[in-house]
Amino acid sequence: MSDITRFGISLDSDLLAEFDQLCARKNYPSRSEAIRDLIRSSLLENACQDPGKTVMGILSLIYNHHHGGQFMQSLVEIQHDHHALVLSSLHIHLDSHLCLEALVLKGPGGQIRQLADRLSAVKGVLHGALTITSQG
Ligand code: NI
Repeated sequence: MSDITRFGISLDSDLLAEFDQLCARKNYPSRSEAIRDLIRSSLLENACQDPGKTVMGILSLIYNHHHGGQFMQSLVEIQHDHHALVLSSLHIHLDSHLCLEALVLKGPGGQIRQLADRLSAVKGVLHGALTITSQG
């Protein structure tokens, strides 16, 4: 484990009060833990801007499976075209019409975003959301 360095932060008291509320709502044990999380998220977001860096992505898609045979075919074909990026998929039948599909993706950030955009843009997909994370 790396050395711990302490440093001080000067903040507007209103901003600090809002931050403390956020910490309480998210059950952070301390401000330090909350700030560490914010810094990690920011660094990760920055690293994920590099289209060549390997990242993990979770893509969730909501759609109505009655949209048509061609629609389901398109979703499957796009995934097969990029099978090396798709590690796993989970399909949940939410009700008699709607489906939730969650895809676990791994690969260069640029390709992961492109694949997520392509699947989300298929006519009939009601909502597509990509969350990117990395091992680093
Ligand atoms: Ni379904």
